[in-house]
Amino acid sequence: MKTAITELFGIHHPIIQGGMHYVGFAEMAAAVSNAGGLGIITGLTQKTPELLAREIARCRDMTDKPFGVNLTFLPTLSDPPYPEYIAAIREGGIKAVETAGRSPEAYMPALKAAGIKVIHKCTSVRHSLKAEKIGCDAVSVDGFECGGHPGEDDIPNMILLPRAADELKIPFVASGGMADGRSLVGALAMGASGMNMGTRFIATKEAPVHDNVKQALVKATELDTVLVMRALRNTERVLRNKGVDELLEIEREKGASLKIDDIIDQVAGVYPKVMVDGQMDAGAWSCGMVVGLIHDIPTVKELIDRIMAEAEAIIRQRLTGFLDGTVEAQRARAVA
Ligand SMILES: Cc1cc2nc3c(=O)[nH]c(=O)nc-3n(C[C@H](O)[C@H](O)[C@H](O)COP(=O)(O)O)c2cc1C
Repeated sequence: MKTAITELFGIHHPIIQGGMHYVGFAEMAAAVSNAGGLGIITGLTQKTPELLAREIARCRDMTDKPFGVNLTFLPTLSDPPYPEYIAAIREGGIKAVETAGRSPEAYMPALKAAGIKVIHKCTSVRHSLKAEKIGCDAVSVDGFECGGHPGEDDIPNMILLPRAADELKIPFVASGGMADGRSLVGALAMGASGMNMGTRFIATKEAPVHDNVKQALVKATELDTVLVMRALRNTERVLRNKGVDELLEIEREKGASLKIDDIIDQVAGVYPKVMVDGQMDAGAWSCGMVVGLIHDIPTVKELIDRIMAEAEAIIRQRLTGFLDGTVEAQRARAVA
């Protein structure tokens, strides 16, 4: 399948693995890139630019395919040394960067001078248009159902994607709620040129996380995520657990006067506890509603091949069948 996104990033399938804190290590990115998608190393999971340079080199040893780096611009006052992270990305020969969080405007000249293609993750049409204006090559349009930070507008992809298609000139991928061939075909139908997945990629054999995390994803349903930190305007969709229930209780007590310090135990330092140690009740970690569509733990290649085969079957048989009048109202069921 050729789309504006496969052409932009020089990849075989229009599937991107979004940056994920404590998941997007070299093993994850290389597995996705080797399977024909675009794997992404999470820049800030590496505590220093030197460590990021080492992670890029490790990934380079695992794949000869293109892979990218995620740079998340945090809503904090004390910034990580972004120029040094960008230097590590440039010197590591990376040609694709996924930016997220605050606008990457200040860093666009450095990224563009290095010949890097920038895909910015946005949760609204207005931010997507801003990304286009400042020279981003593509946008990852992240709907309300996404794992992580869905913004404060609460617009799901069924509306957000066609709205983005109506306004944007640069290509975009659908992000949030994507899991299988049905997601891909739906996204393409709504104007996207591919899809970005986070949560689904965690439940794969190669994802470098504790097995408890993968089992929790298989077990959970679409009813098991909640939004936290609304009062701080830093909303995050997370998987419900004991730590998150405590957090919700504190949020209920404090209401609009909530401060980050009130919930610091439930949100700070949680990722290594969950992803490395498998402590599933440690606190808030990002997870999308798409968890309701995750029922197995395939290899990344099995997952991507299955998505592409399913997408092709839906397009060639189900959709064309409607036009030809040869298919009765069959449901598009997941192949798995
Ligand atoms: C565990 C986890 C950690 C994440 N960490 C980051 C991150 O550090 N930076 C970022 O830009 N997005 C992060 N995301 C968001 C993903 O890149 C992606 O946009 C999102 O997962 C898409 O929604 P989905 O989970 O429904 O596929 C994270 C998502 C998950 C599930």
